[in-house]
Amino acid sequence: MGLLLHRASAVLTLAGDFGPRRGAAMSDLRIIENGSVAITDEGTIAWVGPADDVPGSLRRSSVVDCSGDTLMPAFVDPHTHLVWGGDRKDEMEQRISGADYEEIFAAGGGILSSVRQTRALSEDELYLQALARIARMRRAGTTTFEIKSGYGLDLETELKQLRVVRRLRDEGGFRVTATCLAAHAIPEEARGSDADRKAFIDRVVEEILPAVVREGLADSCDVFCDRGAFTPDESRRVLERALELDLELRVHANEFGHTGGALLAAELGAASADHLLALNGEERAALREAGVVATLLPGTSLVLGKPYADGRALIEDGVPVAIATDCNPGSCALENLAVVLGLACYGNRLSPAEAICAATHNAAASMGLDDQVGSIKPGRQADIIRLATSDYRDLVYHAGSPLIHSVYQAGTRIRGAHS
Ligand code: NIG
Ligand code: FE
Repeated sequence: MGLLLHRASAVLTLAGDFGPRRGAAMSDLRIIENGSVAITDEGTIAWVGPADDVPGSLRRSSVVDCSGDTLMPAFVDPHTHLVWGGDRKDEMEQRISGADYEEIFAAGGGILSSVRQTRALSEDELYLQALARIARMRRAGTTTFEIKSGYGLDLETELKQLRVVRRLRDEGGFRVTATCLAAHAIPEEARGSDADRKAFIDRVVEEILPAVVREGLADSCDVFCDRGAFTPDESRRVLERALELDLELRVHANEFGHTGGALLAAELGAASADHLLALNGEERAALREAGVVATLLPGTSLVLGKPYADGRALIEDGVPVAIATDCNPGSCALENLAVVLGLACYGNRLSPAEAICAATHNAAASMGLDDQVGSIKPGRQADIIRLATSDYRDLVYHAGSPLIHSVYQAGTRIRGAHS
């Protein structure tokens, strides 16, 4: 039987090359006007093309008339920290009235506040809090998520967070990948001396990462390589160990300065380098040569009142660009990737077409999932957004408006909390 999404004004197929796209390829959305998408019973895409050419055998499917609307791949969010305990709304108010994010962190708040709140919750409590967030994010159009740990900073809590990620996949039915970010901050108990600091990194390398891999709980490893967090040498130790353990690498890099993270990500062949507010031509060239995806997080720039990463320079210099929410309890708790897409245009200076590629195909490619999601091609998962407009640029022009008519994951329409 299957499902036929029929006669959409436009289908943004993103049907270009495999792997991260760069330069002009980022704005080539491969649009089919007056198009249809046929979906199999298994939830994969059977056929996509002009509405008048739908093969006879597929016309028997149950038909949804999409005239006047646009179909596009569902969003892929390649950088989130969405499993955390409690909140930091007090810090939000402090920052709005002038307090600085890095100072709050150095004084034992920030990430360390979320560590305390996350350690205090049971796995079930943590699961329920994360479930509420990820369900909202999916209703807002995102069906694939990268989720990091990093609010445990000890073996037990890092494992607890990553088990929650696994449950979001197995019990919740969400499409997720997991990243171990045990090197997110030096925990309170290791801040007394240099020896304690080194002992913490030893624990990450010798105990936490191997245990995470033994339980099959992570696909990737990340490190916060920046001022106030981990030095390039410390980050290298963690990332090299992760490579030995067959994990992919992602790096929080160059958020607060030219702190070595981007060059390290390039040297070690990371899948993604993220933030990149401070980035020069040499660092961009290193990312390009190494094929690292630059993942931009403009929501974090907005929330922290920081400058925006120079997305135009990245695209002009041939670096593939992805965008993500960074959804986390402190620096950016925005959940709506469509809003972040607008910020990527107004802040990072991406064009609307480039931002769509960055939030779909390129995001999927940075997670090694572009053979499954991020484009509308036969054989891919039918993860599709129906936009209530014939012009996708409305996502930017009217950013934040309720333009998302419906969201499908594997061909099944996602229902709201009460429908
Ligand atoms: O990507 N920069 C480091 N980590 C997160 C912030 C985490 C937090 O504030 O809790 C980020 O912005
Ligand atoms: Fe982050």
